[in-house]
Amino acid sequence: MSLPQQMRALVFDPPHGLRMAEGAVPRPGPGQALIAVEYAALNWVEVARMDVVHRPGDIVGRDSAGIVVCAAKDGSGPGVGERVAGFRPASAWAEFQAVDTADIAVVPAEVDLASAAALPGAAVSALQAVRRLGSTLGRRVLVTGASGGVGRAAVQLAALAGAEVVAAVGAAGRGLGLTELGASEVVTTLDNLSPVYAVLDVVGGDTLTAAYELVEPDGVALSIGSTAGQVVSFDFEAARRRGGRQPISAFAVSGPFGPDLAYLLDLVAANRFDPQIGWHGSWHDAGTAITALLNREVRGKAVLHLD
Ligand SMILES: NC(=O)c1ccc[n+]([C@@H]2O[C@H](COP(=O)([O-])OP(=O)(O)OC[C@H]3O[C@@H](n4cnc5c(N)ncnc54)[C@H](OP(=O)(O)O)[C@@H]3O)[C@@H](O)[C@H]2O)c1
Repeated sequence: MSLPQQMRALVFDPPHGLRMAEGAVPRPGPGQALIAVEYAALNWVEVARMDVVHRPGDIVGRDSAGIVVCAAKDGSGPGVGERVAGFRPASAWAEFQAVDTADIAVVPAEVDLASAAALPGAAVSALQAVRRLGSTLGRRVLVTGASGGVGRAAVQLAALAGAEVVAAVGAAGRGLGLTELGASEVVTTLDNLSPVYAVLDVVGGDTLTAAYELVEPDGVALSIGSTAGQVVSFDFEAARRRGGRQPISAFAVSGPFGPDLAYLLDLVAANRFDPQIGWHGSWHDAGTAITALLNREVRGKAVLHLD
């Protein structure tokens, strides 16, 4: 099949944000497959910090799902015609995306491509963060920003890992559905909460300060993100009085994404994980999706259809 030379893509166009542009179809490297993208997802950092993570003219987005139209020349990864999901910075909101085969997973027949596109950035991060906690069997785990993409995935995965999950959200309506996903408690304040073994925090600032004070001796806190955009301060003197063995560290997701993505897709296929798509629409309405995400109106992931 001959491929088109040109494609449409949503590119970063400061100061206004996004622009639909015509550009060359990417030439995949030897270890990359070329994907005809059908769905792409929004991640907070790409849209809230677009000017930090993208240069003018960059294609926006990382997460996509579609059909392989060119298999990798080195023989790795899926073949032509396979349904896949993948992750690659600054390339996803485009009709074609070249992705390293190490960061691609084949989508099981039971899983639709919109659901698959919702997984890479948020759910793989949540999976790796939950793993970083070690065993959470029978232990309380607090997830902050539990209403969002990473948060809704973390709630489900921590519950699957045997944790008693406390889901913290900004307002009651933001927490809808979290009990069904496995949260034992859904709270809108950290005041008067019983101690927890671990914290998975995506909000930062005062929320992380308060969350850290809840961590039991020998517990652990991970800072995954900082949507609040505030500097964090800790009272380590108080931590010492609590027992002083609560490490806190900055989590960063790492590749390859393929194996973790495949695991999550299998969970979706088995109805053990829900991708939590809270906004679904055309990529021509990407601006509306971005506004909704930044206004904290999306429960979970926003997914664009490249129609
Ligand atoms: N370290 C890594 O490798 C990694 C990987 C993926 C994501 N992240 C980071 O994780 C964070 C969350 O990503 P996401 O995709 O889950 O975003 P999201 O879907 O927008 O969810 C973030 C949640 O944070 C809360 N929030 C948003 N703005 C806030 C504000 N100004 N003040 C307080 N709370 C606010 C909201 O909860 P309420 O409305 O309920 O308050 C929202 O649901 C981001 O900072 C992202 O960059 C890091």
